[in-house]
Amino acid sequence: MSLSYVTLPPPAVPAPFRLRALSMENVDGLGAVYSEPEVARSLNFEVPLRPETIRQKLVGDLDAMRRGESFRWVLCLEEDATPLGYMCLFNWTPKDRRAELGYMVSRKLWGQGVMKSLLPVLLRFGFEQMGLHRLEAMVSVHNPASLRVLTRAGFQREGLLRGFTAAVTGDGFIDMHVLSLLQNAWRAAAK
Ligand SMILES: CC(C)(COP(=O)(O)OP(=O)(O)OC[C@H]1O[C@@H](n2cnc3c(N)ncnc32)[C@H](O)[C@@H]1OP(=O)(O)O)[C@@H](O)C(=O)NCCC(=O)NCCS
Repeated sequence: MSLSYVTLPPPAVPAPFRLRALSMENVDGLGAVYSEPEVARSLNFEVPLRPETIRQKLVGDLDAMRRGESFRWVLCLEEDATPLGYMCLFNWTPKDRRAELGYMVSRKLWGQGVMKSLLPVLLRFGFEQMGLHRLEAMVSVHNPASLRVLTRAGFQREGLLRGFTAAVTGDGFIDMHVLSLLQNAWRAAAK
């Protein structure tokens, strides 16, 4: 049987958190986190975020996960299933052993080292369970916290995609950093 969210359960993360596979049941709760203005702005969504915009995105994500193209998890507390964030390994190309990393946590958790504690678990899952050779990430030039999270974990900046995404504000285009971490470098650093 091929690897998918059905065959690989969500990895364990440090207390007080846990991950649950994305499901229809948590789409609305996750939408509430995406709707936090600073989260929405960081991810180039409109503010205020229309419930339909995020619902369509998450239903599309769920379909991609069910097709076996990604792993997508909702972050919550061990004792409380209310969504607090979203972690994904997506655009998975098994032939090239490559995938893209995505993450988001509720504004109320920012700056407390939450991503610092979760990222090693996501990297281990990608490189060991999925057998990835390359993990990549794209980060807006307006998102220094995310750039820091990735470079601190060993990702290398490879370049800049100029004018890559239309700003939802209608105010021009956003440049994106491209970063990657290769399995060998991760292994060497994880020893
Ligand atoms: C990016 C995000 C996941 C970071 O999560 P977090 O749990 O707050 O991250 P951490 O606390 O582990 O680390 C944040 C790091 O960024 C640094 N940082 C925060 N704001 C910064 C800024 N404006 N400029 C530079 N560095 C900044 C912090 O100092 C910290 O680095 P340090 O530990 O070396 O001091 C969170 O801000 C988020 O969910 N943002 C909205 C969604 C998003 O942008 N996702 C990424 C899309 S690519």
